[in-house]
Amino acid sequence: MKLYTSLLFFAVFLFGYSAAFELREGQTCIADRNCDDGMHCETCFANGNIRPRCTRIQPTNALSKVKNLPYNRYSWLTTHNSFARVGAKSTTGSMILAPSNQQDSITSQLMNGVRGLMLDMYDFEKDIWLCHSFAGKCYNTTAFEPAINALKEVKVFLEANPNEIVTIFIEDYVTSKNGIRNVFNAAELSKFWFPVSRMPRDGGDWPTVADMIKENHRLVVFTSKEHKESSEGIAYEWRYVVENQYGSGGMENGLCPNRGESQPMNATSRSLVLVNYFPTAPDLLSACKYNSEPLIEMTKTCYLAAGKRWPNFIAVDFYKKSDGGGAPEAVDFANGELICGCKSVSVCKENMVFGTCGNPPTTTSAAPSPGPEPSSGKFDSQPIQLQWMFSLPLLAILSL
Ligand SMILES: *[C@@H]1O[C@H](CO)[C@@H](O)[C@H](O)[C@H]1NC(C)=O
Ligand SMILES: *[C@@H]1O[C@H](CO)[C@@H](O)[C@H](O)[C@H]1NC(C)=O
Repeated sequence: MKLYTSLLFFAVFLFGYSAAFELREGQTCIADRNCDDGMHCETCFANGNIRPRCTRIQPTNALSKVKNLPYNRYSWLTTHNSFARVGAKSTTGSMILAPSNQQDSITSQLMNGVRGLMLDMYDFEKDIWLCHSFAGKCYNTTAFEPAINALKEVKVFLEANPNEIVTIFIEDYVTSKNGIRNVFNAAELSKFWFPVSRMPRDGGDWPTVADMIKENHRLVVFTSKEHKESSEGIAYEWRYVVENQYGSGGMENGLCPNRGESQPMNATSRSLVLVNYFPTAPDLLSACKYNSEPLIEMTKTCYLAAGKRWPNFIAVDFYKKSDGGGAPEAVDFANGELICGCKSVSVCKENMVFGTCGNPPTTTSAAPSPGPEPSSGKFDSQPIQLQWMFSLPLLAILSL
């Protein structure tokens, strides 16, 4: 262990940067802590990138830029099956035999700027559980944890961050009466609930995020069960959201078909647009490739399919994986287009005239900013640095 530490120290020393621990996106790194805030160090073998580089895991916080726009004028980073964490053990004590879709906890996701959570909820063990199913049924080996555990993490986050908004998409298999409502109540989330009565039904604008923050209506919840809107006051997703096909069927280049339950993507009677981009079988190794250029491309494809509307939600597996900017960059791009008409939200400013881009950001924001015009391709052309040649053998030693 001691050898490891000194080797690592030596390796970082070799890098020779005065800012050895603040490397920017795309720069060669050895450990996460070499990289600037909002990034980690990884390689993307699936894209042929063997050089470990600082890779973004956090989008720019759009609300730190502008708060006076309607909720539907923002794009939110969304995790598919947010609860299905790699290496998770079922709280039943059983091994999990279901696929996993994310690498970190819900709390960690929220801290990294994830604002949309996709949760599959089932009746199980006389409670509501986050689960995958075989033929619609939850088993010990596919049950991750009681839903209240994850919902409590959301509650802690909303309480600690009074200017943040979280959206939950429930894939709803719960048949017990008021089951979903009860578990949200038990997690003390009711006070944050954005009421269905305030949601626009005709494709109109939502209230502004400033208003949602003021009213403390900072939790938006959608269910996939239509009748629960009248019986439990939980918004039926397809009345408010259009969504493209999920899984591999939604990853065909140049196509953005709606999923079966959704209206066509261009249905402007729904004011929110959600783009899914992940394969049917979650693939940790290929995720860095999917979450990079192809995701940006799909965002543009779906923009056109949705009647020139940029996605409000970009939902991926393994959101931290990419070859540079990743899903955070796709969200920054969509936010830039939605909020100020520019290629990245990093150039948006409060009260700026829509589409007056060009000027680099002058304000300093707490949110991670990769520079004025991030583009996912630009780092590939960067020459391999001399330091890299020194660190290669070290890396080999370190990985023993
Ligand atoms: C499933 O887990 C519960 C605990 O939550 C346990 O009581 C039960 O015996 C387990 N069932 C099987 C088939 O392992
Ligand atoms: C949506 O697209 C379809 C086919 O591309 C078209 O027939 C329809 O008129 C469009 N609907 C709206 C509301 O634009």
